[in-house]
Amino acid sequence: MRRYRIAVLPGDGVGREVVPEAVKVLDAAAGAIGGFELEYIEVPCGGVYYLETGKEWPDDAFDTCRKADAVLFGAVGWPKAVLPDGQLAGIRILLDLRFGLDLYANVRPARLYEGVEPLAPGKDKVDFVVVRENTEDLYAPIRGILDRGGVEDAAVDVRILTRKGCERIIDYAFKLCLSRSGAPADGKRRVTCVDKSNVLDGCRFFRKIFDEVAAKYPSVERDYVYVDAMTQWMIRSPEHYDVVVTTNMFGDILSDLSSVLIGGMGMAPSGNIGDRHAMFEPVHGTAPDIAGKNVANPIGSILSAKMMLEWLAQRNGDSSCSKAAQLIEQGVAEILAEGKVRTPDLCKGKYANVKPSRTSEVGDAIAKKIESRK
Ligand code: IPM
Ligand code: MG
Repeated sequence: MRRYRIAVLPGDGVGREVVPEAVKVLDAAAGAIGGFELEYIEVPCGGVYYLETGKEWPDDAFDTCRKADAVLFGAVGWPKAVLPDGQLAGIRILLDLRFGLDLYANVRPARLYEGVEPLAPGKDKVDFVVVRENTEDLYAPIRGILDRGGVEDAAVDVRILTRKGCERIIDYAFKLCLSRSGAPADGKRRVTCVDKSNVLDGCRFFRKIFDEVAAKYPSVERDYVYVDAMTQWMIRSPEHYDVVVTTNMFGDILSDLSSVLIGGMGMAPSGNIGDRHAMFEPVHGTAPDIAGKNVANPIGSILSAKMMLEWLAQRNGDSSCSKAAQLIEQGVAEILAEGKVRTPDLCKGKYANVKPSRTSEVGDAIAKKIESRK
């Protein structure tokens, strides 16, 4: 029996409500398939932890994550939990993990499930992945504020792109594309390069490296869109896209935008993936306005846990993990298609009259579906 150690960081707000549902569903899937076990090491962290202890996470927390087989993350940040430098407490944890574990690929699937209404109506074929570079660009810690005589007079954030950073994210996108079945519109395997190369040198550099890497994958169609234009094409013709590769900041923005197409932020999962480590988290934040009410949609977190199993399967050559991931995918798809058990965010349009379920009831229903497959 293989045993995987999972560092679990629920964090703040709805992170504390959705992560337990992901764990519930993971256990149901592991139990149904057999062949592997998951051991959870819970690590407290975030803004509320900072208010209580004066630290954003325990001293050994990074090491716990580094030594774990994978990291399952919730969300961090809480109103009033602010560091002396004005930063929201907890955000640094996320960036420390991304940079410290070299999780260079932020993989953000956008798939519209049957039974879910898009927030932008009219588009029913959405199944693409935003592959967001995760360790450079405007997120590299090269920034500062010029304080002259107590007056904050100027601010600078440096945008750095490296050859290594561009090559590996673009290569990741092409490899991912080969493992998929193409764009919903025409079934063609396609990688879209999103940049602002009509203005920025960094983006010209990114696009040049895109072409170099693309040459190794002649069976995949290449596509180019400027990021500003992409904000409208993604909404108008989402079915055209298969894999979208872009730099860190653009990917941050486009992945929130893409969630509109798939029913909202509550539906969006992500994986922060490196060559040796990986962390999985829903794209949404801590949602203080709905936190503590048991109404947050746990599906983004549950689908992130599914991605974690896929990664464990690939990294360890363990087919039982990939079977368990498939069970989760099917469980989620079936519950959504049945249209009965869903949190309030999904009770829209055709589903406006469905009685909303609680966060934990959605987790229970998906776990039950999975267990019924035993
Ligand atoms: C995300 C978030 C983070 C980011 C924040 C919380 C640092 O917006 O994961 O998309 O900017 O990457
Ligand atoms: Mg974001």
